[in-house]
Amino acid sequence: MPASFSVRPATQADGAFLGDMVVEAANWRPGAARPKHELITGSDHSRYVSGWMQPSDAGFIAEDANGAPIGAAWYRMLSRTDPGFGYIGTGVPELIIGVRPIWRAHGVGRALLQRLCDNARTQGFARISLSVERGNFASTLYRSEGFAVVEAGHGRDTMVKRLR
Ligand SMILES: CC(C)(COP(=O)(O)OP(=O)(O)OC[C@H]1O[C@@H](n2cnc3c(N)ncnc32)[C@H](O)[C@@H]1OP(=O)(O)O)[C@@H](O)C(=O)NCCC(=O)NCCS
Repeated sequence: MPASFSVRPATQADGAFLGDMVVEAANWRPGAARPKHELITGSDHSRYVSGWMQPSDAGFIAEDANGAPIGAAWYRMLSRTDPGFGYIGTGVPELIIGVRPIWRAHGVGRALLQRLCDNARTQGFARISLSVERGNFASTLYRSEGFAVVEAGHGRDTMVKRLR
């Protein structure tokens, strides 16, 4: 059973770890193993980490007792001309989340999601969005944290949480 974890704000130096977490998010399906170089060279996934950290980026890193990163949740302001899967409009940040496999189902994801949404609220955002592929249990976590589906696409849903 893994030991306790802590959560801290992300910094510019966390870019490579966020890249690893994008790979975890893209490979959520059991058995999926799309390699990092393939995912990160395509803009679909690299837009979530390229040029980290921009002034409008924010994120949190979960660490194990030794200070090693075990999960991350962050948001970016993507543009209408280069939108993410979960883009719903100007001024609405889109979040991404991933936890290292051995640390899943221990409360890390929920803790990161709560910290990130609190931060977005404090920053004055009215909403935060995400995209989740249909069948990913993560949508149950999102629903229990107040997200609702606003748009059903091809095999994936866009979900939004109102922050005020
Ligand atoms: C989705 C993810 C971020 C959730 O983080 P986590 O640390 O595993 O989640 P938590 O432990 O905080 O659990 C949150 C809820 O999901 C449930 N859950 C966790 N793992 C589960 C699983 N394998 N199947 C079904 N439910 C599960 C938990 O029971 C928990 O609910 P509870 O608090 O009522 O018990 C993480 O599992 C992950 O990185 N998955 C792969 C990448 C991914 O899918 N990213 C999101 C893409 S949209």
